[in-house]
Amino acid sequence: MIHVAIDGPAGAGKSTIARKAAAALGFVYVDTGALYRTLGLGMLRRGIEPTDAQAVCALLGEVRVALRYIDGAQHVFLDGEDVSDAIRTPEASMAASNVSAIPAVREHLFSLQQDIAAQNNVIMDGRDIGTVVLPQAEVKIFLTASPEARAQRRFKELEEKGMPAPYDEVLADIVQRDHNDTHRAVAPLRRAEDAVLLDTSDLTLDESYQAVIQIIKEKTNG
Ligand code: DC
Repeated sequence: MIHVAIDGPAGAGKSTIARKAAAALGFVYVDTGALYRTLGLGMLRRGIEPTDAQAVCALLGEVRVALRYIDGAQHVFLDGEDVSDAIRTPEASMAASNVSAIPAVREHLFSLQQDIAAQNNVIMDGRDIGTVVLPQAEVKIFLTASPEARAQRRFKELEEKGMPAPYDEVLADIVQRDHNDTHRAVAPLRRAEDAVLLDTSDLTLDESYQAVIQIIKEKTNG
């Protein structure tokens, strides 16, 4: 099996690039953030505050999170319902960031991620893939960009999806989530020592994609 771990902050272009690279290489793409989002949404729908670790833990066994591939695309299911679109709201983003700081939540989603990697060549993106989930990955990439460049991209993306939000709010959300993700006690966002650093602030999406493919080919002699 070949495992490619792509980590980095929100809005660095990880999912778009990883999805495209996986399709080109015939690998399974796993967007691990979607799992945290699904769990976060499950808590919101039950009226649970995602920062309330005790309440979240009490419901972990009840909220059903599942991953399925439909025509090659990853879909996430919450209690049997396809929530692949519903998890993309700012509320679900913040809920994901908050529940992801809870150790029991990370443990809960750990085996789901490892099971997929055990059976497939994967490109997995997240925050702790190279450091915790797949520490033995053949390829590790830390994909980043300045907060402003990331906010600008997210702003455009939300607009295109018909869910526009003010730029200042998008930037504030990114800064807040960066802080949460890098300062939490368990599996904080950080570059694995053996990860290749790729800063995409001044690169187009296609240039970033080409750089990622190049790194994967070099590391796998492909
Ligand atoms: O990549 P994303 O924006 O969809 O991730 C949503 C949140 O989930 C993010 O704030 C941090 C968390 N997350 C995590 O803690 N570990 C991962 N492997 C993936 C995401």
